[in-house]
Amino acid sequence: MALIEFDRLRKVYPGSTAPAVDDLNLHIEAGEFLTLLGPSGSGKTTTLMLLAGFEVPSAGTIRLDGRPIEALPPHKRDMGVVFQSYSLFPHMTVEQNVAFPLSVRKVPASAVREKVAAALDKVRLTHLAQRRPQQLSGGQQQRVALARALVFEPRVVLLDEPLSALDKKLREEMQLEIRRLHRELGVTMVFVTHDQSEAMTLSDRVAVFNQGRIEQLAAPQRLYDAPANPFVAGFIGDNNLLSGEAESDSTLRLPGGACLHGRAAGALPRGQGATLCLRPEHLRVASPGEADNALQATLLDAIHQGDHWRLVAQLHGSQVTWFAKLAPGALPQGLVPGQTLGLAFRREDAWLFAQ
Ligand SMILES: Nc1ncnc2c1ncn2[C@@H]1O[C@H](COP(=O)(O)OP(=O)(O)OP(=O)(O)O)[C@@H](O)[C@H]1O
Ligand SMILES: [Mg+2]
Repeated sequence: MALIEFDRLRKVYPGSTAPAVDDLNLHIEAGEFLTLLGPSGSGKTTTLMLLAGFEVPSAGTIRLDGRPIEALPPHKRDMGVVFQSYSLFPHMTVEQNVAFPLSVRKVPASAVREKVAAALDKVRLTHLAQRRPQQLSGGQQQRVALARALVFEPRVVLLDEPLSALDKKLREEMQLEIRRLHRELGVTMVFVTHDQSEAMTLSDRVAVFNQGRIEQLAAPQRLYDAPANPFVAGFIGDNNLLSGEAESDSTLRLPGGACLHGRAAGALPRGQGATLCLRPEHLRVASPGEADNALQATLLDAIHQGDHWRLVAQLHGSQVTWFAKLAPGALPQGLVPGQTLGLAFRREDAWLFAQ
């Protein structure tokens, strides 16, 4: 049995017609690191707030250990929460902030000291226990918030974009900290982000959200290698798209008549609109005269990015721009913007989706 089960969960905010969360089904296993990933407004925070008990569902059920929890107030759900804004109490010291959830839960004073010390040790902040939040850096404040969520040893920790206010370096450090804590404590973590690389770094599984629904739920590698649809393919990693009509279940006919071959993801009825998806690293510059799975394009730009070249090219016969990622030595000598080049790919690297 899953630790947490969402069963047709739905949330329509008062005064709005479109649901923020739309018939959501989701199982979360004990001890797993699950990330809710999706664009702004896709329902990630709402889902987390429903789970934490700060929002009430319009329909559907949430179960913890098989028991419905909709009627339980937040502090009875055994879940620690880290919000997007730090939301520390400015007038309290670090120590007092971390102790707060224990006082709400009426933990005896003798145990509080010990638990707070242990939580501060876990996030490596023991030396700053007497400071106030405004005397801390962003990363340190975030670690206080994390200690406050962990201090009562909840079974589940919910984190809503906890790192979004941090610069890149600190953010990557904190990602490793969170990974370490997850491993050491064995606690179930549900993490919200709109940053796909953060989701890939941290998660056992990722739920890709779009308009209140889950487009795909899978391990990061699988989302990348076998996206369920163009939305997921476009949201996880870079992706080139091209539309046409299905000629067979492995062939796309372009409006100009040329055909491209790929792998069908799901049924692809002949004559129906279809989209080809291809990662930039799967493109190469075609040899002269190469025609099979090759497209002619005008080079718009070639950008040297240290470990690779990034080509920007406009496909002939369409307004579509594609990106290619080439190894440093793979760019033909003397190729300059404005020139025509062929771009080729292997059929097993391209996905075909019905529209
Ligand atoms: N309190 C509210 N009242 C009315 N509508 C709301 C409320 N909170 C969120 N919404 C709407 O519900 C939808 C989902 O919002 P939600 O905050 O869950 O998105 P999100 O995925 O967390 O986005 P972001 O990445 O921007 O934080 C949005 O359309 C939003 O405008
Ligand atoms: Mg949000």
